[in-house]
Amino acid sequence: MVDNRQPIISVENVTKVFSSGVFFRTLTTAVRGVSFAMYPGTVLSLIGESGSGKTTMGRMILKLLRPTAGRILFHGRDLATIRTKAERREFYRRVQGIFQDPFSSFNPLFRVDRVFDLVFDVFFPDTPAAERAARTREALLQVNLNPERTLAHFPHQLSGGQLQRLLIARALLLNAEILVADELISMLDASTRMGILNLLVDICRSTGMSVLFITHDLALGYYVSDYTMIMHQGRLVEQGATAEVYHHPVHPYTKMLFRSVPDIGRRWDPQEKFVPEAVNREIAEFYAANRGQGMVQVSPDHAVLMSLE
Ligand SMILES: Nc1ncnc2c1ncn2[C@@H]1O[C@H](COP(=O)(O)OP(=O)(O)O)[C@@H](O)[C@H]1O
Ligand SMILES: [Mg+2]
Repeated sequence: MVDNRQPIISVENVTKVFSSGVFFRTLTTAVRGVSFAMYPGTVLSLIGESGSGKTTMGRMILKLLRPTAGRILFHGRDLATIRTKAERREFYRRVQGIFQDPFSSFNPLFRVDRVFDLVFDVFFPDTPAAERAARTREALLQVNLNPERTLAHFPHQLSGGQLQRLLIARALLLNAEILVADELISMLDASTRMGILNLLVDICRSTGMSVLFITHDLALGYYVSDYTMIMHQGRLVEQGATAEVYHHPVHPYTKMLFRSVPDIGRRWDPQEKFVPEAVNREIAEFYAANRGQGMVQVSPDHAVLMSLE
């Protein structure tokens, strides 16, 4: 049974400031005052153009980056307090990430069968060999990979899409509760794409796993997600049930996104600078007109950032 009442992850007013540069320190605020919750058995999309702070948010949930301010709770516990080796190991069994560059998640010297064997060695060492093989096989079949052909290969012999699917299979074996999937689909060919999206949704429903689906692609977000969050310059400007956000957008930035995607079919070019000055002015006027309101619940399942102060 899936318990939908308690969030697995709660993000509370999180900000991330990067400091970079050797001689002249440059401060970049990648994420600003972001709050949201991840519930079991749901797909939550984080949508925004390139540079809006999506990956930074995902990496903070994965404890790969530490918030500058605010906190992230996992089953009510602040991630910053998860410190010992055993606690960290258990955290990473339950919270898994798939990145745009899946090669970085694999040891190049290990064959795929060794990768899966390690899952058992580390987390379920008492599992007998025959059961290990059967469960590995089952997980690979679930993500549409041919076990015989995949297991004997090294990571560099597989495509990015295959490696991403291996990571989903790994999360399944681990019985992970949270999967952060950052631009998962961009490395998959068209024929595999829909299968994997359907698979992700099925996994959520059947196992209660909660997926943070990070994408710059409005169409993909609409297709997979129960809830949608729109990120603009590090802020969540609109969030709620996917149908609400897509069909009744309130924030001028969200409206602009949908204006520029007339049939929810267009893909964004990540390099494209598609926010014209007019939209920035419109956003500034919107905030000024609604001064003092902040984040407003416009319906039970839909919240909008009406003003910055
Ligand atoms: N390690 C870092 N050091 C400095 N700036 C960073 C770092 N990582 C990301 N940024 C900056 O933070 C902002 C958000 O980046 P990112 O989270 O990767 O956005 P997205 O995933 O939406 O494209 C960008 O301006 C980016 O240049
Ligand atoms: Mg990114």
